[in-house]
Amino acid sequence: MEAGSSVTDLHETFDAVTSAELHRSSRIKWQLYGPEVLPAWVADMDFPVADAIQHAIGGLIERNDLGYHAVPLSPGLREVFVSRMAERFSWQVDPGNVRPLVNVVQGLDASILMHSKPGQGVVIQTPIYPPFLAAVEHSGRRLVDNPLVRAGDRFEIDFARLASSIDDDTRLFMLCNPHNPTGRAFDRTELLQLGEIVVQHDLIVVSDEIHADLVYPGHEHLPFASLSPELAERTITLTAATKAFNIAGLPTAFAVFGSEELKKPFRGLPPHVLGHGGILGDGAALAAWTDGQPWLDAVLTYLAENRQRVVEFFASRFPGVKLLPPDATYLAWLDFQDVELPCDPYQFFLERGRVALSSGRDFGPPGQSCVRLNYATSKQILDEILERMGEAFDT
Ligand SMILES: Cc1ncc(COP(=O)(O)O)c(C=O)c1O
Repeated sequence: MEAGSSVTDLHETFDAVTSAELHRSSRIKWQLYGPEVLPAWVADMDFPVADAIQHAIGGLIERNDLGYHAVPLSPGLREVFVSRMAERFSWQVDPGNVRPLVNVVQGLDASILMHSKPGQGVVIQTPIYPPFLAAVEHSGRRLVDNPLVRAGDRFEIDFARLASSIDDDTRLFMLCNPHNPTGRAFDRTELLQLGEIVVQHDLIVVSDEIHADLVYPGHEHLPFASLSPELAERTITLTAATKAFNIAGLPTAFAVFGSEELKKPFRGLPPHVLGHGGILGDGAALAAWTDGQPWLDAVLTYLAENRQRVVEFFASRFPGVKLLPPDATYLAWLDFQDVELPCDPYQFFLERGRVALSSGRDFGPPGQSCVRLNYATSKQILDEILERMGEAFDT
């Protein structure tokens, strides 16, 4: 910001987003299904990005400044990242322990390959963002599933089951915090309890914190590595500006290693195996983290209103649907287990409602009766999505 653009101006801009315009874009979200379908699946937002990012990218293009660049972008991207982690999350990161990556999922795959052997156990908490499952499966590691459990008004970690599922050949715990798809931002007590277990079993923690900036009031993001030096030294944190600032098409990400030992296998790779973001990704992240906060604040208030709309809609129209309001993210995890539908909910809403949600089946066994709804869109589009879902149910 957006000099001159207030929260109200930005909300008006978000309100003005239309499906006709989005259907003309190259976004996979809007291209995968036909023009008659409203998409609410992949985790992209429909809002225009911050002016700060548009200016930064426009400037690079205008100046023909598109050659090789220092990695990460110099001056400043690594330092801006480190200061942001300190200011927003009270997390002191040693700049020497930060490694640029292309994207966060690359970091998930690489961490598993670097820090475990085929057949060794990797703990994940289903339902889970599908690339976690793919990372374990494709690397030939053994999936140790510790599903989150519904407890009152939130999903929780099943600590008893976790402690008994870990054996001597379990190496990694893949944490997703905030958690996609449930939207949990785990609190200090839970994370410390998890910390005790990972220390006791000598596990490495790979913590995907890409949704860290999308936490609603009343909750906070606690980087796992910030909880204690003992936990930091066994943690690889993966994060990026792309999710919160809606720039997934301009990838660049960071891994933060808590110890030399965690970093060493990455250093041992031939230098170009992993690669890094390009100048547009780095330039966008720099602009986002330097000048994008007012835009992000406006997005968060808009998302909080949308979350409320979704919660109220389901409470009034589908009271049987289990929906726990997310602490973070713009994703609503809807469970139709207690609702009679003629088929899988993803299929049902696509065929009868012309709404494309994410199928819960992709998120592991607890997702069988679920769908994930992305509500990061304009209120008019969200209302139409909800209306179509309601009509599908009524017909
Ligand atoms: C938890 C989580 N991690 C990673 C990603 C993707 O990150 P990247 O595009 O940097 O690979 C997403 C995207 O939705 C996500 O939800």
